[in-house]
Amino acid sequence: MGRRRGWKVTVMSAVMLLIFTGYTSETTVLTGGEPLLAGPGMTADNAGEESAVVSAKNPSAATGKASQPGATTNERGAGTPAAATKANGGTVANPPLQPAKTDTPTSGSVKQAGTRKHDEKRVALTFDDGPDKKYTPLILEVLKKQEVKATFFVVGLQVSKYGDMLKRISEEGHAIGNHTWDHADLTKRTTKEVAEEIDKADEAIRHALGKNTDLFRAPYGATNDNVKQAVGQERRSIGWTVDTRDWAGTTPAEMLEKVKKQTKPDGIILMHCFGGKNGKLDNTIEALPQVIDYLRGEGFTFVTVPELLAEQA
Ligand code: NI
Repeated sequence: MGRRRGWKVTVMSAVMLLIFTGYTSETTVLTGGEPLLAGPGMTADNAGEESAVVSAKNPSAATGKASQPGATTNERGAGTPAAATKANGGTVANPPLQPAKTDTPTSGSVKQAGTRKHDEKRVALTFDDGPDKKYTPLILEVLKKQEVKATFFVVGLQVSKYGDMLKRISEEGHAIGNHTWDHADLTKRTTKEVAEEIDKADEAIRHALGKNTDLFRAPYGATNDNVKQAVGQERRSIGWTVDTRDWAGTTPAEMLEKVKKQTKPDGIILMHCFGGKNGKLDNTIEALPQVIDYLRGEGFTFVTVPELLAEQA
């Protein structure tokens, strides 16, 4: 009896451990709580000459919130589903120029390995908050050298300043996603304001690329019903499954460790190309080749987010 009971306890413990492990790895992605840095990178990177560029390139972008210092550029992962979802309802003032993909699932977890149509271990690298003129080109160089295609979730304000860089990202085969106009915490805005945040970024992307994107990622992963409504059905809302926390000054070794522990097939890795702590993302540049080498060694294939989602439809 005692033995049997002991065995049961062992099994229960194992189950609990599994649940706990799954739970913590999930919540690592989903919880935040780090202090909101007031975008030091934004000021470090942008000298005063930029506002003129904003008004010249994108007059509408230069108005309103364009000069707000609130363009915080750190992903805190505050409560986002770590998967691709589509919001229901709502309208988007600026429909994409390109036809929206209506054949994608209304919801689909990028983590549901069981739904994959193939045996390939795939992973998508994503770089948020850019483009900029310092780190984005360095990341592009690494990606080119390693022959990796990634996805960049860009901030409209940055796009209005570095449209050529966005063009380069696109021309080098990477996918582009909308990451709002100035990296606002959308849960603190009205539905109308959220729509404006998204539309304005769309406008900047269209202006630079001549085409739109249906990919969207909420800053900090922060979302609610209002946000979902404004995001609308024609956009694909993308989260992440691995948070390197590169923006916070995480060391390359720590980033690699997170990647090793958290990356599963069809995973989405969150990194940044602008807006690190004190404006620095040097650790990202150092870690990136190591992350790529490690994942390749583990048999992962690098895909863009649209490629990742296409297989899951
Ligand atoms: Ni961000």
